Amino acid sequence: MMRFEGKVALVTAASRGIGFAVAHGLRAGGARVAICGRDEASLAAAAKELGAFALAGDIGDASFLERLVRETETHYGSTIDVLVANNGGPPPGGSTEVTEEQWAAAVQRNLMSAVRLTRLVAPGMRSKKWGRIIHMASTTAKEPDDGMVLSNTTRAATVAFAKTLSRELGPDGVTVNVVLTGAVLTERLRSLLQPAPGTSSLDEAVAEAAKMFPVRYIPSADEFAKVVLFLASTEAGYLTGVALPADGGFMRSAM
Ligand SMILES: NC(=O)c1ccc[n+]([C@@H]2O[C@H](COP(=O)([O-])OP(=O)(O)OC[C@H]3O[C@@H](n4cnc5c(N)ncnc54)[C@H](OP(=O)(O)O)[C@@H]3O)[C@@H](O)[C@H]2O)c1
Repeated sequence: MMRFEGKVALVTAASRGIGFAVAHGLRAGGARVAICGRDEASLAAAAKELGAFALAGDIGDASFLERLVRETETHYGSTIDVLVANNGGPPPGGSTEVTEEQWAAAVQRNLMSAVRLTRLVAPGMRSKKWGRIIHMASTTAKEPDDGMVLSNTTRAATVAFAKTLSRELGPDGVTVNVVLTGAVLTERLRSLLQPAPGTSSLDEAVAEAAKMFPVRYIPSADEFAKVVLFLASTEAGYLTGVALPADGGFMRSAM
């Protein structure tokens, strides 16, 4: 198990799914953890289960992010050491279909949240000469999906931002990496995987979908979180500026 004693970690969009599993792993390793999500009731339940500090709000809102970081640091009496900037997936849509409003929301939630959170936590990490920033994205950053222009565009921009940032923060002991998520068996994915014609159950639909991946399975959020926990660990200090595909070998590009 990765050890995080003495660290304060903020995981955004973490009342369920991948974010929750990462927060759980950080807590299990001894970190003091803060989470957020929009729905107050599910966030409160998650915070109770984790023993985490929580604040409800939308990561697309700049003033909410300022409050989240400030209140986390006040609550724990320390600046944030580990930032896992997770977010919710933007809606599907083709390049000429998505509306002006959908573009604006996706840019705020999936790109500007990462930029703003970084701006808020970087000074504390720099002064401690240690920090871990992990941006959660998707394989769509590298291999765009049909009908997913908002994800394709904002995820690719996140990778460019993170690479730029890694060069700026590297001299101060702060690493910056992006996780390119393939598929993870969260509630969201289960709800997206409608049983295919000829199959009779969700389990069969999941098994069918797993055939797309060379490893032939779709991981649980807890298994997937271990990739993120490694990037957050002290042991991963030499790894920075990377957009790491955690996709069971799904992407075909060699580099
Ligand atoms: N699961 C996969 O197979 C997969 C594959 C590729 C990429 N991803 C990406 O990974 C991310 C997490 O996926 P997941 O499957 O864990 O999703 P999930 O199970 O739907 O969980 C999303 C979490 O984010 C919170 N959230 C969503 N939008 C938010 C916002 N605007 N402000 C604050 N919190 C917000 C949700 O709580 P509230 O709804 O209460 O706000 C929830 O806690 C998404 O960006 C998704 O696109 C997932």
